This record gives sequence, C-alpha cells and structure tokens, in this order.
Amino acid sequence: MPRPVSDSQSEMAELVLPNDANPLGALLGGRLMHWIDLAGAMAAHRHARSYAVTAAVDHIDFLVPVRVGDLVILRSSVNRVFQTSMEVGVKVFVENYIADTSEHVASAHLTFVAVDANRNRKRVAPVIPETDEQRRRYDDAGRRREIRRSEMERRRKAKR
Ligand SMILES: CC(C)(COP(=O)(O)OP(=O)(O)OC[C@H]1O[C@@H](n2cnc3c(N)ncnc32)[C@H](O)[C@@H]1OP(=O)(O)O)[C@@H](O)C(=O)NCCC(=O)NCCS
Repeated sequence: MPRPVSDSQSEMAELVLPNDANPLGALLGGRLMHWIDLAGAMAAHRHARSYAVTAAVDHIDFLVPVRVGDLVILRSSVNRVFQTSMEVGVKVFVENYIADTSEHVASAHLTFVAVDANRNRKRVAPVIPETDEQRRRYDDAGRRREIRRSEMERRRKAKR
C-alpha cells in the first residue's frame, strides 16, 4: 500500500560530548556519518515497515564545524522508492542553545534496500510526495539514481 512521505519523516537529536570530538573539541566526521546512517535507517524502516540495509551513501560535505556542547538535529525522510531500494534524504542542523542559532551542517542521500529476516530482498511500497518540496526531492532522486547506476556500471567495466 502506498504511503505518504510524512509517514517516514523522522528526527533525531544528539548532544555532542567530548567522546564524539577530536582533541580540538570539533565533532568527528565519522561520528556524524554514523548518526546520518541511523537517522536514514529510521525513515527507511518507518516507510518500508521492514528490515533495511544501507546499500550506499552519496558524498557528504561538512559545511560548518560542530563543537562539544552543540545540539545536532538530523531530519530524514524517504525521497523515492524504486523496487527493493529507496533513497532517503538526511539534513543535519547544529543548534547552539546559548547563542540561539541554527545552521545547516550537512545533507546526505542514502540508499537502503529492504530485506526480510533471511536477508532476501523484498519490494517496498511506493511513496507519495505531497508537497512541492517532496515532489522536487522525488524528481531529483530519479536523476540521482541514473547517475549512481551509470557510475556503478563504469566501475564494473573498469574492474574487468
Ligand atoms: C545492498 C544489497 C542488499 C544489494 O543486493 P544485490 O544482490 O547486490 O542487489 P542488486 O544489485 O540486484 O540491486 C538490488 C537493489 O539495490 C540497489 N543497489 C544495489 N547496490 C546499490 C548501490 N551501490 N547504490 C545504490 N543502489 C544500489 C539496486 O539499484 C536495486 O534497486 P531496486 O531493486 O530498487 O531496483 C547487498 O549488496 C548487500 O547486502 N550489501 C551489504 C549491505 C550492508 O551490510 N550494509 C551495511 C553496511 S556494512
């Protein structure tokens, strides 16, 4: 049964602690990537109502530094469903509750593949974009899939 994008919308919050940071007190990129993966998985699970594995993460730019004591907010939703895979978008913000500021830290597109308990791939219900922004993301996801597929094909040929 098709489901609206809003069914998958998820939000995750993390307070940056010293163990998340480098010796200069800046959030480690790898820690942020882990949180992005988790936030993406939440949206994928909510939409597919199934187990889902991370098949790919598109490139991530870190736009502004995040420091110990900052609050990191990750928002995710399913952009588009193909057959067994779905593209999820994750947008990351940093909030400084002392300065009362919020900045865009990073955005990422991840591909999850739905699987059953035996790790067999399974089809995912279509997603219905309802707002202009969701429709734009849906269209963009189709273009990104074509780019990913041609890049995978190029890599496959290069291996031969
Ligand atoms: C992801 C995985 C299930 C794909 O299985 P596969 O047998 O290679 O599947 P296929 O090549 O037939 O592709 C299946 C779907 O995944 C998509 N897919 C596979 N690799 C992909 C990639 N690198 N990027 C984007 N999509 C990908 C395909 O486009 C296809 O989508 P569709 O069904 O919606 O058309 C499999 O490679 C796997 O289990 N990988 C490990 C996942 C994992 O453990 N992740 C955690 C990180 S270690």
